[in-house]
Amino acid sequence: MNQDQLKQLVGEAARDEVLKFPSGQVLGVGTGSTANCFIDALSPHKDYFAGTVSSSNATTERLLKHGFKVLNPNDVQGLPAYVDGADEIDPAGHMIKGGGGALTREKIIASMANQFICICDASKQVLVLGNFALPVEIIPLAQGAVSRELEKFGGKVSLRLAKNTRADLNQTASEPFVTDNGGWLLDVAGLKITNPIQMEAQINQIAGVITVGLFAKEKANILLVSNAAGVERIAF
Ligand code: 5RP
Repeated sequence: MNQDQLKQLVGEAARDEVLKFPSGQVLGVGTGSTANCFIDALSPHKDYFAGTVSSSNATTERLLKHGFKVLNPNDVQGLPAYVDGADEIDPAGHMIKGGGGALTREKIIASMANQFICICDASKQVLVLGNFALPVEIIPLAQGAVSRELEKFGGKVSLRLAKNTRADLNQTASEPFVTDNGGWLLDVAGLKITNPIQMEAQINQIAGVITVGLFAKEKANILLVSNAAGVERIAF
């Protein structure tokens, strides 16, 4: 099975997982290629939920295309679950997220949910977080100041650049990648994150940081992970 097939498999497992909830509730939906597989798998059941809250403009667009109702998070009291992928997940359910740049809204929606259901293929499971460069969303004018603070953690900091020119996002290739919130992203490579709770709190304290892509406080409650043998369900 290739990685796309593994993502599809876990997307379908997540669909089955959320259809165990009573109908008529609102579901939180994540961002990325694995979350897209989940959205596609759930689309025949779009009316099972009263609506969704979305973690990015890209996800909103996909949900609307499938006919899901997308609600403003401010109009929603709480969510039974938030379903999203991860760039890395450790054995305790702590994650690095933000490879797609949607970390801030992802963390907000995750904080509204009773359960974070993480969906990924087995390549995302690690013993210690940090092989994947840690994304940090910042206020653009704080780039220099935040970079200097982040370097103290021992990693190599780089400003994320847009890969492609996208007129809809007002982005030109090789200029800074601009998030849905107008922020920039710093990626910190070479970290060995042995205490994710502490590092998340410390990076959150730096002036100019909007969100760090360490999901330690908002860690996964359930992991659905696919490999050649099928999908494993792990509860933390
Ligand atoms: C986006 C994210 C994604 O969940 C993460 O990057 C995983 O993406 P994919 O499912 O495409 O591997 O955090 O900001």
